[in-house]
Amino acid sequence: MKRKIIAYNFELTETLEKLKNQFEVEIFDSINPSTDPAFIEALKDAEGIVGLALPVNQELLERAPKLKIVSNNSTGYNNLLINEMTKRGVMGTNTPGVLEDTTADAIFGILLASARRITELDYFVKSGNWKGHLTTAEYAIDVHHKTLGIIGMGKIGSAIAKRAHLGFDMNILYHNRNRNLEAEGKYNAAYSDLDTLLKESDFVCLMTPLTQETENFIGKREFELMKKSAIFVNGSRGKTVNEAALIEALKNKEIQGAALDVYQIEPIKMDNPLLQFPNVVTTPHIGSSTYETERKMAELAVENLLAGLTGKRPNNLINP
Ligand code: DGY
Repeated sequence: MKRKIIAYNFELTETLEKLKNQFEVEIFDSINPSTDPAFIEALKDAEGIVGLALPVNQELLERAPKLKIVSNNSTGYNNLLINEMTKRGVMGTNTPGVLEDTTADAIFGILLASARRITELDYFVKSGNWKGHLTTAEYAIDVHHKTLGIIGMGKIGSAIAKRAHLGFDMNILYHNRNRNLEAEGKYNAAYSDLDTLLKESDFVCLMTPLTQETENFIGKREFELMKKSAIFVNGSRGKTVNEAALIEALKNKEIQGAALDVYQIEPIKMDNPLLQFPNVVTTPHIGSSTYETERKMAELAVENLLAGLTGKRPNNLINP
């Protein structure tokens, strides 16, 4: 009998072909992993799981006694209860090193869209409101030569800094757990304490991973510190921001606008007030979602899985 693997919300299923000689692969898409009976049944024998944003919690681990590895098809791994996995001898892996430029393009893209009001003005044209010369009601704000504050200067943060510095002559402030000397040297990024960054930036771009320390990292106090003309960009995870505080800040015009790729609940609910603001650009967590990059991520996730199941150390092991 073949060993069992689960693929969960794993889009490029053709990359699983190479596993099929050795393993039985069960594919699950858009199910509720804590209640779906077929998924719960499959967990009993599964030795590996490859997929996107599966909540790997106590309950799941208890239902999967043979599990050896969870291979995340993403860089972020806030969905993995990594300490508990380690205690139970379950490996966790992610897909770094292949998506940084793609994600930086997307996040810089929504920053530009928000500053230049591209989605709003797209609607202005398509809804027949472009009737004459543009008035101040359609004017936007410049990006070039402004100050960009990046919170979380890892690889994606640095790739955003590169675009901002080399392409847009922006001044860059950054806040991070550790100094990033490479970004300082290459992109003239200046290390800043959080409050100074919030007070001085024209664009505040949040790129930190979601951890216990960064949950609700940006809330009422932080929005109050930002300039009234600031645009807030979130390319990290929805839970790093207190969404109610963001909505209040937008209502009270404490900031000028926001560009969001991530939300507390994904997919975002249609009654979320964030969807009512014309000055909020929203995208559906598109950071890494290009054909080229998703393929590289899927292949890497499958390689990590295979290594873990064949007694090798996966290249992108997360467990300490
Ligand atoms: C990542 O890789 O973490 C992206 O946000 C996709 O989930």
